[in-house]
Amino acid sequence: MSVVLSTRPFASRTSTATPGSTAPAAGVPDAPPAAAAAPAAHRPGERPIPAVIGADLRVPVRGGGLVPYANLDYAASAPCLEPVYAAVTAALPAYSSVHRGAGYASRLTTARYERARETVRAFAGARPDDAVVFTRNTTDAMNLLARCLPEGTTVVVFDTEHHASLLPWPRAVRLAPPAFPGEAVRMADEALAGIDGPALLVVTAASNVTGELWPVAALAHIAHRHGARIAVDAAQFAPHRPLDITALDLDYAAFSGHKLYAPFGAGALIGRPDWLAQAEPYLRGGGAVRSVAETVEWSDDPEARHEAGTPNVLGAIALAAACEALGATGWTPLIREEERLLARLRAGLAAIDGVHELCLWEPDHPRVGIVSFVVAGRPAREVAEELATGHGIGVRDGRFCAHPFVRHLIAARLPGAAAAGGCGDGSIGAVRASIGIGTTDEHIDRLLAALREIARG
Ligand SMILES: Cc1ncc(COP(=O)(O)O)c(C=O)c1O
Repeated sequence: MSVVLSTRPFASRTSTATPGSTAPAAGVPDAPPAAAAAPAAHRPGERPIPAVIGADLRVPVRGGGLVPYANLDYAASAPCLEPVYAAVTAALPAYSSVHRGAGYASRLTTARYERARETVRAFAGARPDDAVVFTRNTTDAMNLLARCLPEGTTVVVFDTEHHASLLPWPRAVRLAPPAFPGEAVRMADEALAGIDGPALLVVTAASNVTGELWPVAALAHIAHRHGARIAVDAAQFAPHRPLDITALDLDYAAFSGHKLYAPFGAGALIGRPDWLAQAEPYLRGGGAVRSVAETVEWSDDPEARHEAGTPNVLGAIALAAACEALGATGWTPLIREEERLLARLRAGLAAIDGVHELCLWEPDHPRVGIVSFVVAGRPAREVAEELATGHGIGVRDGRFCAHPFVRHLIAARLPGAAAAGGCGDGSIGAVRASIGIGTTDEHIDRLLAALREIARG
């Protein structure tokens, strides 16, 4: 789609508006959070890391009283960045539908929406002719891609995937978890060699269970050697590391705004336009058509074709604002701070008797700020509830929408007593702590102190 109106730089890009000027709603977990977090220290010459909304949320704990919330659940959904909030707020006064109206607000909002598409393209390092389709989230993006596969396509996917990338495919070859990264490449090579016809390799760039980074560049190389394509689930990668579709030679990538500090309901599928332009529209309706008479002429613009109906304009603007804010900060300070906090967390967990971190590969394999673990003999749900109600800490528990992978990591790899904890209902489960912008040393230390207590029993 082309930008229909060129405008001055948006107020949202330069706004100094301070979000949420009301006092914190103490003790009411669903009340609007107030001020932004104090940003982590930056070095001379570096831009400050932007703040997140709601960092001073206070939550009730057992026995009465309120404590500052320690949000260690970023992998599920990250808080809103201050510049994202500002961008959405700035866009609201002229909010209108897009691609439909001649009015000023409609043309301005259309321009903002299409500019958001270009910002997301740049953030992902996509090629100029790649389609950037706004979706609801990664799950939606992968399901859209599944609907666009040429007839007879076989999808090769590892059992380590999140269900969003494991389940949408009509015809899939599932591979067992590889014992080391090189084995992932070897297994993909072997599987792709055995496929006649179109093939797609689907792989995550960063695991939502272990945080481990996958060798996506090597996997892209192998896929292309077999004439196959590769789609990368970047839901957990994009918030933590620079995504470069062109440099990695990926055919498709998908991610979610709500994990990227833009919780306004938009995500993206980015990649080669041909399959998208030829497929049946994802949704049938207005915006996806060129003309409707006795017969329907669908748009051959891959973006319009799959974005029928009024799109989530504010979601797209929010997602683009997050991309801009992270880009403006630069990845060096973000990664340095994350790695410092992650090292503190992992060293602390390793020092607690009875706590076992889940890793697929070597402990020093590169990873993003996500750690899953079990506490021997303690159901994951019980641990998570104790962390929440006793200590004001938010973590995730269960199997993280990656049932085969978590089952493999626990049942196949942990000693019996450790594996026995489970979810508390007899099924296998773990606890996951995940970090991002706004995480502090105090959050990590509070989690570790609480776990020492819980592990002692
Ligand atoms: C690796 C990975 N892929 C896909 C998803 C699905 O994301 P969404 O729920 O935003 O569609 C998640 C969510 O946790 C994830 O961690």
